[in-house]
Amino acid sequence: MTKPSFTPRVFSGIKPSGGLHLGNYLGAIKRFVQMQGGEFETIYCVVDLHAITVWQNPAELRDGTREVAAGFIASGIDPETSILFNQSQVPEHAELAWIFNCVARVGWMNRMTQFKDKAGANAEAVSLGLYAYPALMAADILIYHATHVPVGEDQKQHVELTRDIAAKFNHDFKVDFFPLSEPVIGGPATRVMNLRDGTKKMSKSGESDMERINMTDDADSIAKKFRKAKTDPAPLPDTFEALEGRPEARNLVDIYAALADITPEEVIAQYAGAGWGVFKPALADLAVDKLAPISTEMARLMADKAEIDRILARGAERARDIAAPILRQTYDIVGLLGK
Ligand code: TYM
Repeated sequence: MTKPSFTPRVFSGIKPSGGLHLGNYLGAIKRFVQMQGGEFETIYCVVDLHAITVWQNPAELRDGTREVAAGFIASGIDPETSILFNQSQVPEHAELAWIFNCVARVGWMNRMTQFKDKAGANAEAVSLGLYAYPALMAADILIYHATHVPVGEDQKQHVELTRDIAAKFNHDFKVDFFPLSEPVIGGPATRVMNLRDGTKKMSKSGESDMERINMTDDADSIAKKFRKAKTDPAPLPDTFEALEGRPEARNLVDIYAALADITPEEVIAQYAGAGWGVFKPALADLAVDKLAPISTEMARLMADKAEIDRILARGAERARDIAAPILRQTYDIVGLLGK
């Protein structure tokens, strides 16, 4: 049998829980924008079904979904060029996830480090959905036969599991139906760290708001958070390698590089020997410069929720045009009767 050739297609998603932060922007959204309009068909999704694996207040979930959509658009995702929608409006994701629940093995799920981190000592009491989450993520990707998946470093294991699920499905049913999707992880900001502890990643769930830059923060809070960011006493070194063992310093250099679209080595070349009193204000100015127009545009978009809802509904229709035939073919392969 000749190998099928898959349309170059990008899929990625962001959970609408707890608001967007700089890690989501630099590790994901900014790169989604870069992949738009070129060789790939691009599909971007607000993954609301993933959010409810932990408790969500319904009104906050609705608004959080619109806010992530606004964040995508304000950052440069064009809902005409890309397909932009929220996951629950395309039921094929959940339907394919069920098939994948029957393909993936319990042992595979037990190896997922994110589940272990999130469930912690409480693993018996978390939702079954949180445990099965990676099978839904595989369905998100494979319901579009997506070939490329831009994500931050923390999602790499889930994309690898997606490949394992695709390979097992193809093998079990003796088909070459699902592609082995490639994770696309690159640039200086694949793992933006917590501003108060450079050994932990920046996340929505940290206890203090000072740990992260939110995409809705105003200029004063951005400047204050960088000013108070933890660092060590030494100035910036004159080589990038000398940042080894200085996680907080390395993080701020990486953030600067990602915001300025230059390499960390170039940041070092520019600021070698500079103290934090020089570098932190420069970083804060750069961040305000890049993020303030986005947060202003997000606020403008959020003032017309009906328009955001229309954009998401239209995106969902376009997504279903791709997803429905792939689900139908999957059902045929599995032996589920239907037209
Ligand atoms: P989520 O919502 O936690 O994060 C969305 C995206 O942001 C990236 N990210 C980061 N990148 C760099 N530094 C950080 N500190 C940081 N924090 C978050 C994440 O890697 C991700 O790319 N399971 C996914 C959502 C999802 C998905 C998918 C992604 C569901 N289905 C299908 C790709 C394809 C998640 O919880 O991401």
